[in-house]
Amino acid sequence: MPEMIKVEDVSSRPREESVELFRKHINPGLVVLLEMGEYTAITPVHAEGAVITTQENKHILDFVSSYGALNLGHNHPQVLNAVQEVTENKRVDLSKELLSPYAAYLAHNLSQVTPADLNKFFFCNSGTEATEAALKLAARCFKGKRPQFIYAKNSLHGKTLGALSFTGAPRLREYFPLLPGFEVPFGKSEAIEKVLSDKENLEKIAGVILEPIQGEAGVIVPPAGYLQEVRAICDRYGVLLILDEIQTGMCRTGAMFACNHEQVIPDILVLAKSLGGGVASIGATICSEKVFATAYGNPHECLVQTSTFGGRSTACAAAMAALTVSVNEDLAERAARLGKKMLADLRKIQKKHPGWIREVRGRGLMLGIEFDENILKQAKSYLPLHIPGLKTVLREHLPGMVAAALLKQFGILGTLMLNNRSVLRVYPPLIIAEKDLDYFIRSLDALLAQGPKNLVKNRVNHALSSSGLKFITSWTGALTGTK
Ligand SMILES: Cc1ncc(COP(=O)(O)O)c(C=O)c1O
Repeated sequence: MPEMIKVEDVSSRPREESVELFRKHINPGLVVLLEMGEYTAITPVHAEGAVITTQENKHILDFVSSYGALNLGHNHPQVLNAVQEVTENKRVDLSKELLSPYAAYLAHNLSQVTPADLNKFFFCNSGTEATEAALKLAARCFKGKRPQFIYAKNSLHGKTLGALSFTGAPRLREYFPLLPGFEVPFGKSEAIEKVLSDKENLEKIAGVILEPIQGEAGVIVPPAGYLQEVRAICDRYGVLLILDEIQTGMCRTGAMFACNHEQVIPDILVLAKSLGGGVASIGATICSEKVFATAYGNPHECLVQTSTFGGRSTACAAAMAALTVSVNEDLAERAARLGKKMLADLRKIQKKHPGWIREVRGRGLMLGIEFDENILKQAKSYLPLHIPGLKTVLREHLPGMVAAALLKQFGILGTLMLNNRSVLRVYPPLIIAEKDLDYFIRSLDALLAQGPKNLVKNRVNHALSSSGLKFITSWTGALTGTK
């Protein structure tokens, strides 16, 4: 008989066992990376709101929010109730033939808050899938004659081949067969116009895909007016504007959608992450009746873009509840207000500890702290220079060291950005208590006051004490992408 572990036994089995199984069967490099930050030393047993509780009954404050998927925090009761309404009453969760009423009402509710006439929805299961659907939709509007897109450097739209083709992250793209496109710097509308003004290019291009505020690039807020300029350029050249609000949407930036800040209406809006209220995996590709009809207007095209699990009742019920909570509790206003205070407090910390922080930036509660690795020069004597690559890795991962120290000393969960290793993200759930935001500020203040030498010494000691040189070289390999 094969050995089958029972679901009900999982929570009582030792943490080391699941970490080793993860290493063995899922992603060994990720385990090494997380061991370096001592994340694997934590045994989480409970999560509610912004707080994760460990086996030792220690509280950890989540300042990652699963990269923006937990705007409502962990296990929001109203979202859980919505899912239970479907499961406990044994409603039909999965059936395309029987048309989920939850999908229909979710579409109705969402259409009340989406900009202008964006009222046609395709529901899927993740961000990258929603991006894929957006790219297909736009390309189909031109009957496939314009298969290319303009996208921004350092962007992230997903890791499936289509979305990755128009994602400006060289390390993620390496060795994959991708579609051709045009990469431009973010925040410079003239770069987009330059590409489109070449007739030969224009004949190939269906649209422009952008994040209104770049997330994984390191929280990059474009200059005011940028999105409006891009909107006007797209109109002038007759191409579609796709806005990826997978991270920025659902109130994160202080508005339901970040495009609301500039009153820009995209042709296609893409959502995922917090749409599922932190409970369900759901993405949405949203467009106007006109765009939908141009692409899929013919009834015989109704099965061209579908997904088995997309629009299932449980996920749609969760999203309905998430949207209701976001609107009723005015989380957009809360994110705007708390974000403003947080930004000001972080700038005070920046001033108080000169040399540590290059810039603090963001909008709402989508914030990033860009660290200055030059501060590590003060800790030179603690860098084990005999270990190849370690010095470079430590220098490149100052925010990673800060995150590890915040976790160990202050019980704050943080992490850096995928396409920018100098930035520590500050993405608390939007429902976080104000006192917990103050605690973050006090903790960062106390940590920086300890000085760079202490930070480096503690991290290097941990690295050396874990499993010696072999461990460190595999870590440096994992971080520098050479292993
Ligand atoms: C802006 C943006 N777009 C797309 C994605 C991809 O979403 P998913 O991981 O759900 O495929 C992400 C993920 O972080 C993202 O931040």
